[in-house]
Amino acid sequence: MAVSLLSQRFVISAKLSSNLTSNYKLLITMAPIFDFPIKVGRIDDVQELKKAQKTKIPYRFVRDVAERPKLAPTHLPLSTSIPIIDLSKLMKGNKEDFHFEILKLSASCEEWGFFQVINHGIDLDLLEKIEKVAMEFFMLPVEEKQKYPMAPGTVQGYGQAFVFSEDQKLDWCNMFALGLVPHSIRNPKLWPTNPPTFSDTVETYSREIRKLCKDLLRFIALSLGLRENVFEEMFGVSVQAMRMNYYPACPRPDLVLGLSPHSDGSALTVLQQGKGSTVGLQILKNNTWVPIQPVRNALVINIGDTIEVLTNGRYKSSEHRAVTHKEKDRLSIVTFYAPSYEIEIGPMPEMVDEKNPSKYRRYNHGEYSRHYVTNKLQGKKTLDFAKIPPKNSF
Ligand code: OGA
Ligand code: NI
Repeated sequence: MAVSLLSQRFVISAKLSSNLTSNYKLLITMAPIFDFPIKVGRIDDVQELKKAQKTKIPYRFVRDVAERPKLAPTHLPLSTSIPIIDLSKLMKGNKEDFHFEILKLSASCEEWGFFQVINHGIDLDLLEKIEKVAMEFFMLPVEEKQKYPMAPGTVQGYGQAFVFSEDQKLDWCNMFALGLVPHSIRNPKLWPTNPPTFSDTVETYSREIRKLCKDLLRFIALSLGLRENVFEEMFGVSVQAMRMNYYPACPRPDLVLGLSPHSDGSALTVLQQGKGSTVGLQILKNNTWVPIQPVRNALVINIGDTIEVLTNGRYKSSEHRAVTHKEKDRLSIVTFYAPSYEIEIGPMPEMVDEKNPSKYRRYNHGEYSRHYVTNKLQGKKTLDFAKIPPKNSF
């Protein structure tokens, strides 16, 4: 199976291909790859905690003081909001509009690593539909949802991902995640039969989001002065996965995090916020957590670690997290789009010169994915995997 996925365009060194067996065990079957049993302790289902209406937050959810979110103002001046890109201007705008939008895109990726995209061409009914089935799923009785359990050490199914030890703090969030493309990463046992339209809606949605990712990557390439198909050609059959995050309201949003700080291991991430959603997503900019204001019908896009490496750090994979709200729940539907596991990643030659020496080494992307999903979320630390220490550093 692994062989059929190998694209002839990519030469894999013997050392890397020997790692593929374990990569595939994890990434294709999503079976745990730990040689030892991992003990994650009791992981409470957050919706069930909420239902029990206990006023005290269980200890495992209470963050150390330094990690607790300072409840930032929810409305900031526009200058501190992430840029909004009008995709219609890139797809079919006149020359002037196109040029302006490309410049905005490049500034967003350099300064923020995030932007919101409007006029993305995805049917708004479809966005509504995916949100509806996601909410219907989360509202099912817990016993029903637990028919699709996320086994410790894996990243698909219902539960909490990235928990590896008993003393690790937990996020105030219930997750449901699925691998989508290539088909070999799917685990059919984890696809819910209820709500009945769930699977069809996910299929249609993921096809549309895939197209969007391809378009965005073309424009990202152009914004870097590269050939528009450079990423598409490099990536092979891109890996696509989806995670639905449901953040119940929390009586003490000042003590917990909805999702721990992290950067995404993908090339690009597309995040849909539930309609009328409260502010929950925050990104770290100049040491300040900046809330992302939901924009009606927009999708939030962020640069993942892969594009940061390929552009030698010019485009940033920003650290981000989610916080909770005292009265309101929040839903996000997140798509991760990444290169095929076989390909080798490293700064592109066009992004490296004397002034900008390589900041990252070359590595196999499957190896990075494996590293990513076998470590807890901890800011940008995961990318240390690829970093070349600057000269003169100890
Ligand atoms: C993620 C993520 C943020 C959110 O799933 O990787 O960053 O607002 N989610 O749900
Ligand atoms: Ni993320």
